[in-house]
Amino acid sequence: MATSDPSALRSQAELMPRYYAQRAQEYERVFDKPHRQPDIATLKTWLRQQFAGRSVLEVASGTGFWLPEATAEARAWQGSDLNPEVLAIARSKPLDVAKVQFREADAYALDFVAPGAASPYDAGFAGLWFSHVPRSRRAEWLSQFHAQLQRGAHVVLMDNAYVEGDSTPISRLDAEGNGYQLRSLSDGSRHEVMKNFPTEAEFRTLLAGRAHEIRWQPLRYFWTLSYTLD
Ligand SMILES: C[S@@+](CC[C@H](N)C(=O)[O-])C[C@H]1O[C@@H](n2cnc3c(N)ncnc32)[C@H](O)[C@@H]1O
Repeated sequence: MATSDPSALRSQAELMPRYYAQRAQEYERVFDKPHRQPDIATLKTWLRQQFAGRSVLEVASGTGFWLPEATAEARAWQGSDLNPEVLAIARSKPLDVAKVQFREADAYALDFVAPGAASPYDAGFAGLWFSHVPRSRRAEWLSQFHAQLQRGAHVVLMDNAYVEGDSTPISRLDAEGNGYQLRSLSDGSRHEVMKNFPTEAEFRTLLAGRAHEIRWQPLRYFWTLSYTLD
């Protein structure tokens, strides 16, 4: 892939979802790593608290790994993902179907709330998603995600921290500084996947004038970010 070619980013936007569709059945193996269990337990408890009493819009739900805990005390939960393959697994989780629903949606073209209409969502969530947003689309993605939520909504993002010797190495950077990892699936297929490791400082710049109560929580293998929309 040519590193400075904008069409390369477009093709990555198509390849990445296809990679996750193909990975659906084996996706959650990544959460089996024994040394990550303390972080994962911390995150599950923390997510449960974050959404207590909230009506949540989630993008890129994937297989719903976090959702039995994250949805436990929520008032209502609208999950979404581009891939039906992962949503089928999410729907099989022990979730309260009276308040948790899913539908296919492109995280870059969210249409849960029509322009100008009142949003039912007082919280937003995206787990392990922002790392796949190209640097040049970060501000745009945040804007349209925030536009689906109420003013004053509570937003939670969380993702992987880069840990030397444990994370899949970054094999190259493109012209705008996006990192790429070479990943393999159990069928032997190899995939180049864009994966970034944004910093607290980058988020503080991105969220300036949009949010307050910005809280960054670095764990060993993950980070979390929460904030209140202005
Ligand atoms: C790393 S997984 C995260 C899944 C889940 N949130 C978690 O924390 O385990 C990334 C997810 O993004 C989804 N995805 C990729 N491109 C997307 C897009 N344009 N819109 C919505 N979801 C997308 C993939 O299908 C995949 O489920």
